Amino acid sequence: MVAPPQRLLIDTDPGQDDAFALLLALASPEELDVLGITCVAGNVPVEKTSRNALQICELAGKREIPVFAGCDRPLAQELATAEEVHGSSGLDGATLPGPTLCLQEGHAVDFLIATLRAEPAGSITLVTLGPLTNVATALQRAPDIGPRLQRVVMMGGAFFEAGNSSPVAEFNIWVDPEAARIVCESGIPLVMAPLDVTHRALTPPFWKEALATLPAPLGPTLRGWVEFYERYDRAKYGWDGGPMHDPCTIAYLLQPQLFSGRSVPVRVETEGEFTRGMTVADWWRMSGERDNALFLTEVDREGFFRLLYERLTRLR
Ligand code: RIB
Ligand code: CA
Repeated sequence: MVAPPQRLLIDTDPGQDDAFALLLALASPEELDVLGITCVAGNVPVEKTSRNALQICELAGKREIPVFAGCDRPLAQELATAEEVHGSSGLDGATLPGPTLCLQEGHAVDFLIATLRAEPAGSITLVTLGPLTNVATALQRAPDIGPRLQRVVMMGGAFFEAGNSSPVAEFNIWVDPEAARIVCESGIPLVMAPLDVTHRALTPPFWKEALATLPAPLGPTLRGWVEFYERYDRAKYGWDGGPMHDPCTIAYLLQPQLFSGRSVPVRVETEGEFTRGMTVADWWRMSGERDNALFLTEVDREGFFRLLYERLTRLR
């Protein structure tokens, strides 16, 4: 008996690694039914993340996926972006023609609320690949949608691994800690792919050559994105590859056995003078709080890249 595809909403701030996550999901229609993509300000402003999402759908040949623009700034602070990592476009490293697809009318937050109210309760998984501003805004405006979500699978956070945007904070949380705290305290079951696991999903030495074997424009585009994207972390950490952060969420949905972690209470620090944006994972359950997240810490790197490559070959 083949299980029906998991029904997904994906909130994202493309970003080259977001692009790989979106392509992985869009290449797996038998297992993942992407109901819509909502875009948020993060790596670059929302005008660019939205445009990038359209280009990625076009590159995947999936023109029917509705794409919405969302929040243009965090809940309680100015937007901080990451052009130093992703380039001014957010997808530097390759040049794609301007999208012929158009954004849907309406705001991403309204789409999230309407979809979760219209679809059967518990039938949708929300994947988040960027700051949680859209999701938190939707939960504030429509608290009834929280219990209607099956779960949230997010790339975000860090605990045993140092932060990448402050000594203790990972970018998606650091950009909007208030939003992350709202989602973490929402009661929605969470699966977190923090830096603790994504820093183990480093592109292997042969990865760029493997991508170049894919037919154009996909192969040259992906190779160019990886070449550009990984240079920042290679220089910063001295690694021989770059971390494929966001695809870890989709790979978890497709093959959870590639990952391991622990269900623990996770809270977001919003007041700390030095720790704002930190995800505090109560690994030994000392707080007495309830477990709210499966906090992933290990990945089968070889299996992960085997899955990612095999699915990308389907996007011919
Ligand atoms: O810290 C890594 C995360 O921040 C990834 O989602 C990357 O795309 C950026 O958004
Ligand atoms: Ca992202």
